[in-house]
Amino acid sequence: MEAIKQEIRLDENYTELFRELIHRQLGIYISPDKNYLLENKISRLVNRGGYQSVQELYKMLKDNKKGTMEDLVRYITTTHTFFFRENKHLAILRKDIMIRNIAHPLIWVAASSTGEEVYSIIIELLEHGISDFFIVATDINTEVLRHCKRGVYSRDRMKELSEDILRKYFDRVDEGRPGEYFRVKEYLRKYFIVKKINLIDNLRFEAKFHYIFCRNVLIYFNLETQRRVLDVLTANLRDLGYLFVGHSESLIHITDKLESVFSSVYNKKL
Ligand SMILES: C[S@@+](CC[C@H](N)C(=O)[O-])C[C@H]1O[C@@H](n2cnc3c(N)ncnc32)[C@H](O)[C@@H]1O
Repeated sequence: MEAIKQEIRLDENYTELFRELIHRQLGIYISPDKNYLLENKISRLVNRGGYQSVQELYKMLKDNKKGTMEDLVRYITTTHTFFFRENKHLAILRKDIMIRNIAHPLIWVAASSTGEEVYSIIIELLEHGISDFFIVATDINTEVLRHCKRGVYSRDRMKELSEDILRKYFDRVDEGRPGEYFRVKEYLRKYFIVKKINLIDNLRFEAKFHYIFCRNVLIYFNLETQRRVLDVLTANLRDLGYLFVGHSESLIHITDKLESVFSSVYNKKL
């Protein structure tokens, strides 16, 4: 029998405390008009994560208790993604690699979620004869990174893929549960690594990237955090490198270090 769920309410004080903590630690800003969302996510975490109360959860986060921050990240982040999302970007990417004859393109997928974006880039490039690239796939959420690395998807999440592409790049697997599942072919793994990275950390990679995909994540940040993250992205982008953002994420009025080259594609001002 399912355990009876306790009714969890966030009082004003804890609403503010969680809003502030989430913003400071994850960069994600949940504005007061979305308090219902904050309450919903925190109460689900308390109920399903085995915490006694909102107060206990907050205290464990403040005390840095192992696993608690990961729990919060799992419940707060929105990880929705799909194969060949905003696929005009993929054509821009491969044409640029070809036109500028970029040897060994290095690509950062900066909020990769469960990996559909990463495999879409790999498939797009391989389909056009480009095979000397490398991708660093990062996210703040370790659960989605595990999914990305494993590369198993149910058929209903693969609607954007033709049967030919499905057969060419995936193997059918038995997951021991209802439904049809496919796993990416083993050799695709050599094209990428996954790494947990919080975009608000002031990170510098050893090598700069030719291309950075940071799509559909800036929308969860406020203006100040967007500027901070864009500084990190720009610092890790080569001169003339491209930054791809989500179609609804215009950078006009946010930064003067980047200029638009195509719709939602930017490069560094020299
Ligand atoms: C909506 S998904 C976007 C996935 C993919 N880029 C796309 O466009 O389909 C947003 C992703 O951003 C990640 N994210 C949120 N805050 C982050 C942060 N501070 N640092 C790194 N990743 C973050 C989430 O975990 C989630 O996987």
